[in-house]
Amino acid sequence: MNVAVELNEVSRRYTRRGTLALNSVSLAVPAGTFVAVMGRTGSGKSTLLQCAAGLDRPTSGTVRLAGQNITRMRERALTRLRRERIGFVFQSYNLLSELTVGQNVRLPGQLGAPRTRGVDDVLEAVGLAGLGRRPVGELSGGQRQRVALARALITSPAVIFADEPTGALDPTTGAQVLRLLRDAVDRDGVTVVMVTHDPVAAAWSDRLVLLRDGTVAADDPTPDAAAVAQRLAGVAA
Ligand SMILES: Nc1ncnc2c1ncn2[C@@H]1O[C@H](COP(=O)(O)OP(=O)(O)OP(=O)(O)O)[C@@H](O)[C@H]1O
Ligand SMILES: [Mg+2]
Repeated sequence: MNVAVELNEVSRRYTRRGTLALNSVSLAVPAGTFVAVMGRTGSGKSTLLQCAAGLDRPTSGTVRLAGQNITRMRERALTRLRRERIGFVFQSYNLLSELTVGQNVRLPGQLGAPRTRGVDDVLEAVGLAGLGRRPVGELSGGQRQRVALARALITSPAVIFADEPTGALDPTTGAQVLRLLRDAVDRDGVTVVMVTHDPVAAAWSDRLVLLRDGTVAADDPTPDAAAVAQRLAGVAA
């Protein structure tokens, strides 16, 4: 089994006397699968994502990402790994609104990432063909989120980490973004790890990881949206 992301007894404590945001979490995500991470606010979802993506370092435990042990990797090598193999999509888009769509999508390449796909190709893939010259500041939320996805796709990443990528979108637009993530998994073999509060969004995934107080409360194949909502209510209780 080719494992794209592997956490082994990962704990993260933000302050010396604070509680554990993550408490000995172990999780192995096979390449080409779509995992949704859910749990109530403060349960450790974003912390898990950040540790798994090499944006934050665990207090203890080990993390393997895209075939490499990143636990003690030097910052420069880690930056290169993130740039070349990883895509990020966040709720807040993280776009530069003064720049055009095309300039935003080209950014990873300008920061030294290998650009394996063309700008027009990824814009077409996310349904934004012909909008390359539009300033991002003139786009709707759904269009911005698709620009963020195009920017994540342009390097053909092995793993995409998404933190509430549909949190700011209406259901229809959200479904478009989820369809794109699903296609990246099914067509290109990308691995997706997505944090969400929305059972309908989670229902697009293959596997549902539920966090409670920094631990994995459940980890099973994803059921339909109604059953996801029920399980979520179970861990929130
Ligand atoms: N930078 C930080 N400094 C100190 N404590 C933090 C920091 N970031 C998160 N925490 C704490 O760690 C715990 C987990 O936070 P995390 O952001 O991972 O939760 P979450 O599940 O993503 O929540 P939400 O659904 O609200 O986004 C919380 O108790 C939070 O207060
Ligand atoms: Mg969060």
